[in-house]
Amino acid sequence: MVFKIFLAILTTFSITLGSISNVFSEEKSKIGILTSGGDCSGLNSIIYAVYKKASELGYEVIGFKQGVHGLVNNDYIILNKNICTPEILRKGGSILKSNTGPLKDKLGNPLSKEEGDKAIIQEYHKLNLKGLIYIGGDGSIGLMKNILQKDPSLNIIAIPKTIDNDISNTDVSVGFSTVTKVVDEDLSNIITTAQSHSRIMVVEVMGRDAGYIALISGIAAGADAIIIPERKYNINNLITKMKRNYNSGKDYGLIVVSEGVEFDEFKYESTKFSDVISRKSYGGVSEFIVKKLQKAGFDARAVILGHVQRGGTTSVEDRILAQKFGIKAVQLIDTPNCGYLLGILNNKISTTKLSDIKITTRNLNSDDSNIILARNLGIYIGE
Ligand code: F6P
Repeated sequence: MVFKIFLAILTTFSITLGSISNVFSEEKSKIGILTSGGDCSGLNSIIYAVYKKASELGYEVIGFKQGVHGLVNNDYIILNKNICTPEILRKGGSILKSNTGPLKDKLGNPLSKEEGDKAIIQEYHKLNLKGLIYIGGDGSIGLMKNILQKDPSLNIIAIPKTIDNDISNTDVSVGFSTVTKVVDEDLSNIITTAQSHSRIMVVEVMGRDAGYIALISGIAAGADAIIIPERKYNINNLITKMKRNYNSGKDYGLIVVSEGVEFDEFKYESTKFSDVISRKSYGGVSEFIVKKLQKAGFDARAVILGHVQRGGTTSVEDRILAQKFGIKAVQLIDTPNCGYLLGILNNKISTTKLSDIKITTRNLNSDDSNIILARNLGIYIGE
């Protein structure tokens, strides 16, 4: 009898211990997150919000280092509250780092497109991810669309980020608000020196083939001319406009030019970075314009703002947008076979199926309200 009671106690005790140990050993569902392509301010705000929501819902968040390179090479950190502090909300860059170079394996051997895609899919499954939050630009969205075609069982939510603001299926991307803030601060310093030296300052901003940065910053700074890739320009008309200004008493000027602008006499060459990446290396159109202005008798200088535009304390607007996207991504991640690009359309968060997306650069239309605004303000914005 005593033996039977002892056995019963022992069994109950071991069952209890067993279930306790099960509870403790139960693996948490995992979400992966990474930042891909050129950095911008606002990436860390997305990471912060993803961590907040995901941990509230009981997920573990794996932060892959250097974009998809970290996924392929098992290089990651588990996010926690000591990493995702409110301080990172305003911090530029990415705490997870990014990498625009060709994908390589652990030994540093370059992977072909096929091998790279295969490795991404394999590692996703090996890690048993519930989903992957992919923060990137056009290139990344194309890559994820392609991956989903190969394996639709992956859950991927893409969040649009780029200072260029040129991603389709969203009216705005994370990073754009901050870049205009940064450029505005620089333009404000440049205008005072232009004024005191009676010079024309030609300021070249980033944006690749889209003119959003130049357009918005130029209007906000009261530029005399804004030169963007979407419009046609005539250098002689630009010179006439500046001469008219000088004749009417405004003896200094500000011209904001987007790096991707080409003229008949000024073209960029394409550089091959790898077997899959080939792109134009922009930079220098401001110097071309300055030479033309100097030839016409103006005292003119070129300023290429460059990578300062990619940093800076994240603007309040970007912090809000980034966190909205971060929360939405976590809320969606459990949807079976989800593959979405988040965006803002008609002032609301939108979800576009990655399979429906045609990868194109979102350019400025000639009827864009800000192009009309520039024209109404007398800014030279092309023919
Ligand atoms: O796409 C973002 C961007 O900053 C462009 O505006 C710019 O042309 C490019 O990246 C610069 O890239 P990288 O940092 O590789 O020189």
